[in-house]
Amino acid sequence: MIDTDPGIDDALAILYLATRPEVEIVAIGTVHGNTTAHQAALNILRVLDIADHPDVPVAVGAARPLAQPLHTAEFVHGPDGLGGHPGPPSTRDLAGTSAAEQLVRLARDHPGGLTLLALGPLTNLALALLLEPELPHLVGRVVAMGGALAVPGNITPYAEANLWHDPEAADLVLAAGFDLTLVPLDVTESVRADRAWYDALAHAGTRRARFATAILRHYGTFYETVLGRPEYTLHDPLAAVLTLDPALAEHRMLPVAVELTGTHTRGRLVADLRLLAEDADLPGVITDRAPVAVATAVDAPIVLDRLL
Ligand code: BDR
Ligand code: CA
Repeated sequence: MIDTDPGIDDALAILYLATRPEVEIVAIGTVHGNTTAHQAALNILRVLDIADHPDVPVAVGAARPLAQPLHTAEFVHGPDGLGGHPGPPSTRDLAGTSAAEQLVRLARDHPGGLTLLALGPLTNLALALLLEPELPHLVGRVVAMGGALAVPGNITPYAEANLWHDPEAADLVLAAGFDLTLVPLDVTESVRADRAWYDALAHAGTRRARFATAILRHYGTFYETVLGRPEYTLHDPLAAVLTLDPALAEHRMLPVAVELTGTHTRGRLVADLRLLAEDADLPGVITDRAPVAVATAVDAPIVLDRLL
């Protein structure tokens, strides 16, 4: 199951998963973040049409964060969240349930059998936890793209966008006891698509590749004009690849939290970084939560190749 805020890199992640024979996408929930939760749902229906997955149910999720105003990111992902790429809207209907309710129902129906890939702010997952406190024992595994562990943030100097869009929700989820893998900027920032990668994608000539290259144009413009570099980062696609093949990354087990009160640091992923030392022999400062797996290094060339 995928929880997402498409979002150009979210769309790429889902196009990738839709090509993998070992993956069964059972449902998708959308969340505010790159765009509104409703627009994200319309976008995901378009992506599923392109991916020839017309039967996957799509439920609209949280329209706003738990405890702060809504912020969206059209400056990165375009006015519609998909780079403003014109194309026919899907004629499919949205599911008549919320994304949080959809998640709780599927987790109860398939105890231990569901892998949840979270590619946006964690509001839906937090709401699902409030509906079903046993959720961490019902969901098999959670992989979430989010946080900046030992590198600067991307939306503030300290915070990564997905955590910053709803810090309270993220902190609730990271404390809940899920079997959880976090894919932070520390690893996603090394998965950068350059011109040669883009051209290879364009040359594939399939419907999916045409759609992917079209929406990537806006993403590339943002990276060139705002960040001043020709390569762009494939955050969510990396999380999708690692969901299927965790061995492509190194992971460390760390208790983590999200800074909720810092004047400058709200939304920052917090861990006791002294624990990263090989010979660390101390309890660390976060002693009241179970550790989660945090990806700390990745084989970027193989990931880029898989995505192609
Ligand atoms: C995350 O924020 C969004 O802009 C991307 O889709 C990704 O999920 C990266 O910080
Ligand atoms: Ca995303």
